[in-house]
Amino acid sequence: MSDSRLALARGDITKLAIDAIVNAANTALLGGGGVDGAIHRAAGPQLLAECKTLAGCRSGEAKITRGYSLPARFVIHTVGPVWSGGESGEPETLANCYRNSLQIAVTNDLRTIAFPAISCGVYRYPIVDAARIAVDTTSEFLRENNSVEQVTFVVSTDEIYAAYRRLL
Ligand code: APR
Repeated sequence: MSDSRLALARGDITKLAIDAIVNAANTALLGGGGVDGAIHRAAGPQLLAECKTLAGCRSGEAKITRGYSLPARFVIHTVGPVWSGGESGEPETLANCYRNSLQIAVTNDLRTIAFPAISCGVYRYPIVDAARIAVDTTSEFLRENNSVEQVTFVVSTDEIYAAYRRLL
C-alpha cells in the first residue's frame, strides 16, 4: 500500500528547495563521488567543514548538517550498506538508513525530505531489492509519524525510476 505522501521524481537531488535532502555518504563523512560528490559541490566547502566535526557515521546511521549553498535547508547524511551478497545484514542496514534519516527529520520538525537511491550506485545494491526496502520502510515509518508531509524518492536512471514506479 503506497502512501499519498510518497512521491517519485527523476533528476538532481541537489536542486530541490525542501527541508532536507538525504546524502548517500560513506563512513568517513568527508565527501566522495556520486550523489555525495554532487551534494558537496553544490553545498560548498562549509558542508565539509561541518562534516569534519561529526567524527564519521556508521553504516545504517544518519547525521544532520546544514545545507549551506544548497537550496535545501539541511542535509541528512546516511551510510548505506555495500552489497556483498545479501547475507551480511545489508537489508536491515539499508532499512535503518531510511528509518534513521526519517527519525532525524521528525526530531528536527522537518516536513519535506528527499532520498536518493541509497546504495544503488557505487555500493552496488540490487536496484529492485533496494527500491522495495526504501518504499516499504518509508511507508511503515509514515504510518507511525504524521509530522512528515512529503517524502520524495529522487532517482537518476530509467531503471531505478521503473523499479520505484512499480512500487508506488
Ligand atoms: N541526484 C540524485 N541521485 C543521484 C545524483 C544526484 N545528483 N548523483 C548520483 N545519483 C544516484 C546514482 O545514480 C545512484 O543511483 O544516487 C544513487 C546512489 O549512488 P551513489 O551516489 O554511488 O551512492 P552509493 O551507492 O550509496 O555509494 C556510496 O559512493 O559517492 C560515494 O562517498 C560515497 O563512498 C560513498 C559511496
